Amino acid sequence: MTEEIVAASGNAGKIREIEEIFGGVRVIPMREAGFDGEIEETGSSFRENALIKATAVCKRLGRPALADDSGLCVDFLGGAPGIYSARFSGGDDEENRKLLLARMKGAHDRRAHFECAVCLCLPDGRTLFGTGRTDGRILEEERGTHGFGYDPLFFSDDLEKSFGEASDEEKNRVSHRARALHDLTGKLGLLK
Ligand code: IMP
Repeated sequence: MTEEIVAASGNAGKIREIEEIFGGVRVIPMREAGFDGEIEETGSSFRENALIKATAVCKRLGRPALADDSGLCVDFLGGAPGIYSARFSGGDDEENRKLLLARMKGAHDRRAHFECAVCLCLPDGRTLFGTGRTDGRILEEERGTHGFGYDPLFFSDDLEKSFGEASDEEKNRVSHRARALHDLTGKLGLLK
């Protein structure tokens, strides 16, 4: 297919994970590849946002680009914060977690899942998507300090511990992002 992909992200952890799962493909952060613009996530789904980001980078640079979009969907909150996960409280990760705990106060149904969509865009206009999810529930207080975002509040059904208590390796085995990337790599043959 291609030996180099530009990632529409600057997050070193994500880039390492993409390289591991794509095996043999060099993943270049978009800033290093010469993309210095901001991309507005104006889509109404994870899939649309991933498409917007991948297409923006691919079109500007004329190189294959990969983007992901993800978030936390809580049943009791009707799927919120969803695509607004990063901007839920208007503050940082800690404030987002505080707001989530406040909204979940007294809730018996604490089921939730992380969802991720990845999109690969090629200069000839072809696009390929992968999706993944991982299920769990929202704890009543934080457990563990690993990870980022909502990790300390998310008790994983697969790991039987919170993502905040899991090592990177454990989380990457079951994460929504890893599952979406595997889903995408399984479809790469469709591009040939
Ligand atoms: P992005 O897709 O990396 O921009 O993530 C959007 C937001 O969703 C993040 O800022 C986090 O709040 C939340 N999020 C996505 N994936 C995870 C995860 O694996 N752990 C914790 N929070 C996450």
